[in-house]
Amino acid sequence: MNQNPLRTMGQQFSRRSWAEPWKIKMVEPIHTTTKEERERAIREAGYNTFLLRSEDVYIDLLTDSGTNAMSDRQWAGIMLGDEAYAGSRNFYRLEATMQKYYGYRHLVPTHQGRGAEHLISKVAIQPGQYVPGNMYFTTTRLHQELAGGIFQDVIIDEAHDPGNLHPFKGNVDIAKLDAVLKKAGGAQNIAYISVAGTVNMAGGQPISMANIRDVRAWCDKHGVRFFLDVTRLAENAFFIQEREQGYRNKSIREIVKEFCSYTDGAWMSAKKDALVNIGGWLAVNDDTLFDNLRNLVVVYEGLHTYGGMAGRDMEAVAIGIEESMEDDHMRARIGQVYYLGELLLNWNIPIVQPIGGHGIFLNAKKIYEHIPQNQFPAQMLAAQLYLDSGIRSMERGIVSAGRDPETGDHRYPKLDLVRLTIPRRVYTQAHMDVVAEAVKYVYDNRASTRGLTMVYEPRDLRFFQARFEPVA
Ligand code: F0G
Repeated sequence: MNQNPLRTMGQQFSRRSWAEPWKIKMVEPIHTTTKEERERAIREAGYNTFLLRSEDVYIDLLTDSGTNAMSDRQWAGIMLGDEAYAGSRNFYRLEATMQKYYGYRHLVPTHQGRGAEHLISKVAIQPGQYVPGNMYFTTTRLHQELAGGIFQDVIIDEAHDPGNLHPFKGNVDIAKLDAVLKKAGGAQNIAYISVAGTVNMAGGQPISMANIRDVRAWCDKHGVRFFLDVTRLAENAFFIQEREQGYRNKSIREIVKEFCSYTDGAWMSAKKDALVNIGGWLAVNDDTLFDNLRNLVVVYEGLHTYGGMAGRDMEAVAIGIEESMEDDHMRARIGQVYYLGELLLNWNIPIVQPIGGHGIFLNAKKIYEHIPQNQFPAQMLAAQLYLDSGIRSMERGIVSAGRDPETGDHRYPKLDLVRLTIPRRVYTQAHMDVVAEAVKYVYDNRASTRGLTMVYEPRDLRFFQARFEPVA
């Protein structure tokens, strides 16, 4: 049996049953498809789950982004949208909410997370400067590279090992920061430190408060700015509460506020933690930086008091931020992820451990040991899950990693994963049982599965639109 000490931390869930702190007021029908229909659909989609029609999907675990169920309070807030072009009431509410919960001084609204990434990258990176980050996120790194930055991974080695049980696999390795500083030939050649909590590509793994303090100290010592991706920071705070000495009795709210206090600014895709379907923002403390960002937001996103969001969207984000910081919400949210993960671990199916915040990450490299990495094992695993039962998941491996801008070769990441991402407040425990059984079926039939060849490859963020065929 599994000896993972962190699994026992889930016992706060298993000792007595927990349940969601909400009940269902409205439902959306979903339907199953036949095997023949799924075979046709995945073939037409070029074996890429991004190219499936949502109507052909039964349980949609493609992403937790924008797929959340809003509360009755959020829907009521939608009716309070002040759709003025300038100075919408909802903007001021969002600004005050961001200041209260995250603690930064200035807010720049954006249409979603990558809008914010675009602006901060353009303003804060000079071509040729290094941008160290804790692993990478696809859109984050691309915007840094498009601005002329050179991304450098400074996450601890443990993060690249799916079986390693380090409780904070999102942590930054300070020695790697020192190495980047040396390579850069001085702090003036480092744009800023770019850290995300939790780390999506590592499997939703958290950073510890101790580590963020160490990074702050390093930045102070060398005079480097420090920006944070707070897309799933409330989830990160849950893990700090669960695992880090001294935080057991602190609330998610208190932990988030302290965490942000060690950084100079942040960006957020509100489509995750903040429980909405669209929205994002950027926040900074520095007045000059804010000025530059406010100049750019009107070029690329919209006026500085809406940034691409409708007034009603900003209202829903503000309410969603409040709800995301409730301890009982977060316990049920991550409790559901744990529930699915524990089912799979009990069947010895290889997943990334410890179980992360927003989904279960299947170790495709291990499951399909016989499929070489350049035949896209995770892409095929996602296709097989869809074929078996209409469950949609996402490749997070060699396809997502893209090509090295210098050599033009595939990047060969150590992690080749399939992400079963759990939308917030959307599916029930029974859906999780169905998912687990589908994974088990595909796992049990792994030996007869072959790899894929890529027959169409887009230049940027290729995973979204690439097409594949089974190898002959
Ligand atoms: N940062 C992180 C950590 C993300 O996970 C995402 C999006 C973004 C930034 C970009 O935000 O989508 O609003 O433009 N992640 C989605 C996902 C797409 O499925 O993980 P966005």
